[in-house]
Amino acid sequence: MGCVTPRATDWGLALFVGLLFTTGVMTLFAGERGDAWVFAAHGAGGFALAAAVGWKLRRVWRRLAQPSRWDRRTAAGAGALGLVVATLLSGMAWSSGVKLSAAGYNLLGWHFALGVVLTLVVAVHAGLRAKPIRRRDLAGRRQLLAAGAVAAGSYLVWLTQRPLSGWLGLRGGRRRFTGSYEAGSFAGNDFPSTSWVADRPRPLSEGSFRLELSGLVASPTQLTLAELEAGDMLVATLDCTGGFYSRQRWGGARLLSLLERAGPLPAASHVRVISHTGYRWSFDLEDARGLLLATSVGGEPLSHEHGAPARLVAPGRRGFQWVKWVTRVELHDGPDPGAAASTVWSSFTAEGRGAA
Ligand code: HEM
Repeated sequence: MGCVTPRATDWGLALFVGLLFTTGVMTLFAGERGDAWVFAAHGAGGFALAAAVGWKLRRVWRRLAQPSRWDRRTAAGAGALGLVVATLLSGMAWSSGVKLSAAGYNLLGWHFALGVVLTLVVAVHAGLRAKPIRRRDLAGRRQLLAAGAVAAGSYLVWLTQRPLSGWLGLRGGRRRFTGSYEAGSFAGNDFPSTSWVADRPRPLSEGSFRLELSGLVASPTQLTLAELEAGDMLVATLDCTGGFYSRQRWGGARLLSLLERAGPLPAASHVRVISHTGYRWSFDLEDARGLLLATSVGGEPLSHEHGAPARLVAPGRRGFQWVKWVTRVELHDGPDPGAAASTVWSSFTAEGRGAA
């Protein structure tokens, strides 16, 4: 590896940070078994970044260890190094099962935040100072071998990490493929509840509750809570991007069978599920076959913090897509470009704040 030039090392570091940020953001949407490669790429990428940081440190360590030789650039470099190490350690500690939280956020929350700040710092640094990569930084056979060794080695380390954690009795050996830890499975409402951003709606009255079915339907319809208690059951895992998962028996009505009552029009291709708070998510009608509108969990009526009177159950999707406090379901002829923004602004609506 003696052939890897300083410039290739720096570009390698930036590339790994980019890969980790991209796969990190992708983890937020990865909930199906087929998405497991995203977590593999993220975990192996973390070990590759650690190797590249170690390699860079071999070169710059002497200067770093002598504060008398520091200039402004060294201080910036040391700050960036601290950020990389904190991001790597928070990710690895989370994956090993360390339970820590600070200021109301668990290790995974801090890891997300550190990862985003690190990526911004690296992007600004690269924009201001990056030196163009040359042929000789990439072309050699030994360069290629070094890159292959880092890729294969980090994947192997990632592969052994979970069995090793299990063998050492660490909690990390028992995490789901998404990195989430089990909490309150099959215990009725007794599992953690989180709301994306800061939704705090008031409890909705069951008596006056109506679910509105509208959009591309022949006859817009309103259903009472009793009409949603159709006896359909589904065992599905709620896997929250906050880092826990809970497997539950959900009861209610299949979303598509409810929509049948309003007469979907042929142009309808997407279903939009909308909360009392304005929070909404949209699904392809093909994907919507597996969706349930739940009014109960484990035989208990759904509690307010879990989305009563009715919440969406979306198997294979991450928890933030399981819309709570659903009051409207609409059919549309395309996807919903505003859905992501709705998950943020719902906390600022009067309904989201609990004022209406
Ligand atoms: C760009 C900076 C980032 C770095 C350097 C980084 C690094 C790491 C590392 C080293 C791990 C431990 C992997 C393992 O031990 O298997 C990890 C885990 C994780 N990271 Fe990141 N990460 C970054 C950004 C992000 C972002 C932006 C997100 C999400 C928005 C994210 C989500 C996760 C998740 C969910 C895990 C747990 C995966 C598991 O337990 O298998 N990361 N990260």
